[in-house]
Amino acid sequence: MAARRMPIFQKFIDDLRAAFADGPDTAAAMEKARSLLEGLVADEELRARSKDWPSTEGHKNLLLYEDPDYGFVINAVVRTAHRKGGIHDHAHAWTAYGLLDGEEKLERYSRLDDGSREGYAEIRLDSVTEGGPGTVDLVPPFDIHSEKGGAARSVAVIVRSERLVGRVLQGRFDPEAKTTHRGEGPTQIPFELT
Ligand SMILES: [Fe+2]
Repeated sequence: MAARRMPIFQKFIDDLRAAFADGPDTAAAMEKARSLLEGLVADEELRARSKDWPSTEGHKNLLLYEDPDYGFVINAVVRTAHRKGGIHDHAHAWTAYGLLDGEEKLERYSRLDDGSREGYAEIRLDSVTEGGPGTVDLVPPFDIHSEKGGAARSVAVIVRSERLVGRVLQGRFDPEAKTTHRGEGPTQIPFELT
């Protein structure tokens, strides 16, 4: 039998399952997921525990949990200092992104062209939000964004409304070249919070 989960993490899973059980409205469930995640990433014990989580450099995510009934996924990302994440979307999935340790910037972009030219995209940087431990962002479907690491290692916990990896490709954007392509999401590394 698998080792027992950290109680705060098991409670987080139970609460998320209750949010998804409330009905088929993914946006509503993910609004609840955002406030639940705010509680989780404010937890000092989890922050202390995350100090020795392995790096996810090389386009990886720790896979903390995937729900067998509702399909939502809980990931973690451990960035090295000054990590520059690529600009991307999460296709039709919703994502709640919570910073547990360190500092990061979340850049949000808007699309200026109509998407009718294959491989072409004009995007504009709209805002940069600075986050520290406890900051949670909710990223709607097809929102174009990028997470940039801070001066030190940073750790985030992510709730995704569903798993895209292995199923759906995600948009990637290069604002200088004005190009876009669709690519596979991060490699999933199973990691138990016991
Ligand atoms: Fe993202």
